[in-house]
Amino acid sequence: MQSQTSMFDIQPKASHPKRVVRTVYKDERELLNDVLWLYNGGHGVDVDPCYSVGRFWKGLPQPKYKFDVAPQLPEVKQADCTNLPLENESVKSIMFDPPFVTYPSDTSIITNRFSAFENLEQLKDMYIESLSEFYRVLENKGLLIFKCQDLVHNHRQFLTHVFVINRAEIEGFFCHECIILSRDNVLLSPHIQKQQHARKTHSYYLVFSKGLPTQRAADDGDSAAFTSLI
Ligand SMILES: C[S@@+](CC[C@H](N)C(=O)[O-])C[C@H]1O[C@@H](n2cnc3c(N)ncnc32)[C@H](O)[C@@H]1O
Repeated sequence: MQSQTSMFDIQPKASHPKRVVRTVYKDERELLNDVLWLYNGGHGVDVDPCYSVGRFWKGLPQPKYKFDVAPQLPEVKQADCTNLPLENESVKSIMFDPPFVTYPSDTSIITNRFSAFENLEQLKDMYIESLSEFYRVLENKGLLIFKCQDLVHNHRQFLTHVFVINRAEIEGFFCHECIILSRDNVLLSPHIQKQQHARKTHSYYLVFSKGLPTQRAADDGDSAAFTSLI
């Protein structure tokens, strides 16, 4: 357990004397804060490979390395998440929030803002290559938080979170958590005449470590953390 604090550390919340990390959240910042507290010793992440404008880091420690294929801010370095300018096993933690929709459309608010894939195969390839790249740059037992959302493609459900968990395990990651962020406000396409599938109002934060689970709980004697591992 790291004892020194730095500018990347999360400050303890006075309002949370007895903190309980949950599987379902409505507030993204609280979710990230809790995941970093439980799985990253309260430290911020080293790398955000798809930084965009860093919306969800507001009020949280900024990542040390900020990359994006199309940077929108001067402090973000241009890089592809499948080929990061980082040495092998050089970072401890990654928070990955890639594009999650297919069928780019000029009329879609989501695709204009975050970019999208032209088809499902493109999404799968990018996710697989990214997982492989993260395995390369992460230290052994390093942390990967993968944000994703299921989708309907060609009128069929694609359970992205199942795909990511399965692929990550093939790459050599261990899945610790599948945490859900739910929301009440939903963007509805004006082009949909008749609803075919339930509108998705949740996304996933999948928490992995490179290799086997850490001995964190045993090391620091934290029985709550130990319970969460079993
Ligand atoms: C969902 S957004 C990230 C939003 C960000 N987490 C935030 O809080 O503002 C996805 C970002 O991934 C970037 N992106 C898409 N493909 C990429 C790639 N191959 N490598 C790196 N970044 C990529 C897009 O430019 C976009 O900024």
